[in-house]
Amino acid sequence: MAGVEIPPSRWDCFAHDAFADQVVLVTGAASGIGRSTARAFHDLGAAVVLVDQDADGVGALASSLGPRALPLAADVSDAAQVDGVFAACDARFDHLDAVVAAAGVITAKRAFDIGPADWQRVLSVNLIGTFSVLTAALRRMVPRGSGSLVAVASDAGKRGGGGLIADAPYAASKAGVLSIVKSLAREFAGSGVRINALTPGPTDTPMHAGVSAELKQRIGAGLPIGRMGHPDDLAAAAVYLCSPAARFVYASSLNVDGGSLYE
Ligand SMILES: NC(=O)c1ccc[n+]([C@@H]2O[C@H](COP(=O)([O-])OP(=O)(O)OC[C@H]3O[C@@H](n4cnc5c(N)ncnc54)[C@H](O)[C@@H]3O)[C@@H](O)[C@H]2O)c1
Repeated sequence: MAGVEIPPSRWDCFAHDAFADQVVLVTGAASGIGRSTARAFHDLGAAVVLVDQDADGVGALASSLGPRALPLAADVSDAAQVDGVFAACDARFDHLDAVVAAAGVITAKRAFDIGPADWQRVLSVNLIGTFSVLTAALRRMVPRGSGSLVAVASDAGKRGGGGLIADAPYAASKAGVLSIVKSLAREFAGSGVRINALTPGPTDTPMHAGVSAELKQRIGAGLPIGRMGHPDDLAAAAVYLCSPAARFVYASSLNVDGGSLYE
């Protein structure tokens, strides 16, 4: 963690029951930002639906959290599996209050090494998968006239890839996520459902398992804040976006990036 000690949770400032009686679905919940986000909502009283293709990962997290956690294994790039997840959620809960779409993949390759299969994989998970999850949630939330959606984008979606860790397909997919958020926010304006993007900067998660400690140190030192993000930094922001404190935040993209996008 770039030599900086980070306390384990950053959401203590919210009331411990801020999300009591709420149901929050998180994709990518087995690891990194999604995992922290699911834990944060659970700590604040919510029931959490943990979605990930890593069945063991969501199973283990659900076991550690207890009966308010429902683990569901699914590949978000498969629309039928996404439908299955939401059907299972409907069967267990009679409402859905918030969705954080955090499942995502990166190739971590340079341009000359990237082929059509890399594009296919990244776009099908990050772009199409995110769209499937958000629209499945809207089908439930719009008739109720309430809810909050957070799509996890990336600073690479605003700046482009080609730097130290983000590749071109990844950056393009995240630019697409930002565009999807704008499109859905326009289409569902006035529905009562808030739709926003969360835009992390470089964050120390298993996504960067192949990145050396030395390079992580360098990436962190290059940010205005002087360190890489901790997944809890992003979880706290997702909690904020889904809370009543953000009731006037709509169609936005919240940079939580240590100043990565500062110019
Ligand atoms: N870590 C960073 O530096 C960073 C920066 C900007 C944005 N993000 C974004 O944050 C989100 C979370 O990333 P992370 O860093 O926590 O990564 P991570 O690799 O730790 O977690 C991603 C999770 O998504 C799951 N996943 C991948 N493909 C899936 C699929 N097809 N279906 C279901 N689940 C799938 C993985 O199993 C994993 O549990 C991603 O969307 C990522 O692009 C990360």
